[in-house]
Amino acid sequence: MNICCIGAGYVGGPTMAMIANKCPDIAVTVVDLNEERIRAWNSDVLPIHEPGLNEIVAQRRGENLFFDTEIDANIRKSDILFICVGTPTKTFGLGAGRAADLRYIESCARRIASVAEGNKIVVEKSTIPVRTANSIQRILKAGNPDLKFDVLSNPEFLAEGTAIPDLLEPDRVLIGGESEEAVETLASIYARWVPRDRVLTTNLWSSELSKLTANAFLAQRISSINAISALCEATNAEVDEVAHAIGMDSRIGPKFLKASVGFGGSCFQKDILNLVYLCEHYGLNEAAEYWEQVVKINNYQKRRFSSRIVETMFNTVAKKKIAIWGFAFKKDTDDTRESAAITVCQDLLGEQAHLSIYDPQVSKGRILEDLGVEESEEVEICQSAEEAASGAHAIVILTEWDEFKEQDFEKLHATMPKPAFLFDGRNLVNLTEMRAIGFEAWGVGQGSPPAV
Ligand code: UDX
Ligand code: ADP
Repeated sequence: MNICCIGAGYVGGPTMAMIANKCPDIAVTVVDLNEERIRAWNSDVLPIHEPGLNEIVAQRRGENLFFDTEIDANIRKSDILFICVGTPTKTFGLGAGRAADLRYIESCARRIASVAEGNKIVVEKSTIPVRTANSIQRILKAGNPDLKFDVLSNPEFLAEGTAIPDLLEPDRVLIGGESEEAVETLASIYARWVPRDRVLTTNLWSSELSKLTANAFLAQRISSINAISALCEATNAEVDEVAHAIGMDSRIGPKFLKASVGFGGSCFQKDILNLVYLCEHYGLNEAAEYWEQVVKINNYQKRRFSSRIVETMFNTVAKKKIAIWGFAFKKDTDDTRESAAITVCQDLLGEQAHLSIYDPQVSKGRILEDLGVEESEEVEICQSAEEAASGAHAIVILTEWDEFKEQDFEKLHATMPKPAFLFDGRNLVNLTEMRAIGFEAWGVGQGSPPAV
């Protein structure tokens, strides 16, 4: 059997590497229009950073895992085609800022229709609005009426940074489709390593909608605890204690209740806005407003954090050096898409602060591009947390990298103008210890800010 995956990104690359790893008899080729990306997949430095990925790719590449820019021939020879292209939020026209931009999906479907010479199973893995399979099916049929295309929905639930364990032991694999035979073909691939009772099969629309709903529920939990964090600050309650207490209720559960500077990543905001658009499309305005509030609270949380910094530092950060620790949207990834760090840094630059930014994984070029600036006196990209913090008025923790916990805070404190401030957007460090060292330390939802 031959599998071709269109799109060598965060979803396509790791997922196909896992299939190749678990199914040595299946040839898996990942294709992409982006030559540089394919070159990177074929090199020692993969285009994405995922613990455990290098080892799997090194084992299977050239055996039954291939990365190629030759798209048409690979489509032609494959039995199963995975569509793993991006579905960003539309920035123009109908649904701008909310609806998913499906142009890459459409162009894949057109390409498949125009080059295929035999029947295919077409699997949508990209996150898409419910009923997209219908559009794909119509494009395929119209483009090539003589062939049979079975369109399946098989959303990917992996999280960045844990892609390999998530793929190795998924909570569930979801496959939606009309053709029982096609569903079974795909299910039997996953069944090589996933227990059968975790391979769920549903109708197409349930599968498509489940992906958006899962992300909306996860994000909603974070916005809920973040909303409570604001109340904790006003009342001297401790948000982590509240989260722990409610999480012990088995109906609520402990995960995804960590208050933070705000959620980021390529999925949550995009998928919720997509859900909001869908609700509006079907005239369900109250449902749309309900879900939109999750994104509003997230924006509120990011802005609240930047304002807290400025207000605490005597209402001015102009020309003050501020160390930014962490730029990725969470630890163990170099991805910065929708990272709260972007908003917070831009807010601080708007206040004319001088930022010294350090992230263990994110490249200098990425940070500067995200902020839309060149390196200058205002923005310096550092090689270590220590270098960033040395001589700064404040340390601001924006990503929960483990190494930030292990810094020599006493030594850093000695280099900083006084009062030296610490703002922990991830509740990573122990504020009592920081205060004992002499920091004016503040964390999300951890009581009132220190007296100024
Ligand atoms: C998410 C979903 O978890 C995954 O199932 C889906 O396939 C894609 O979207 P991902 O974006 O990789 O995955 O990251 P995730 O670990 O879910 O974190 C998203 C954001 O929420 C991060 O910015 C993270 O720091 C933040 N977060 C997470 C919190 O602020 N608090 C929490 O308790 C959990
Ligand atoms: P995700 O996070 O969903 O995996 P990415 O943006 O990381 O999304 O990756 C999507 C990949 O799909 C990109 O590398 C992009 O170049 C590729 N791509 C988009 N459209 C096409 C297409 N029509 N044919 C081949 N590759 C495509």
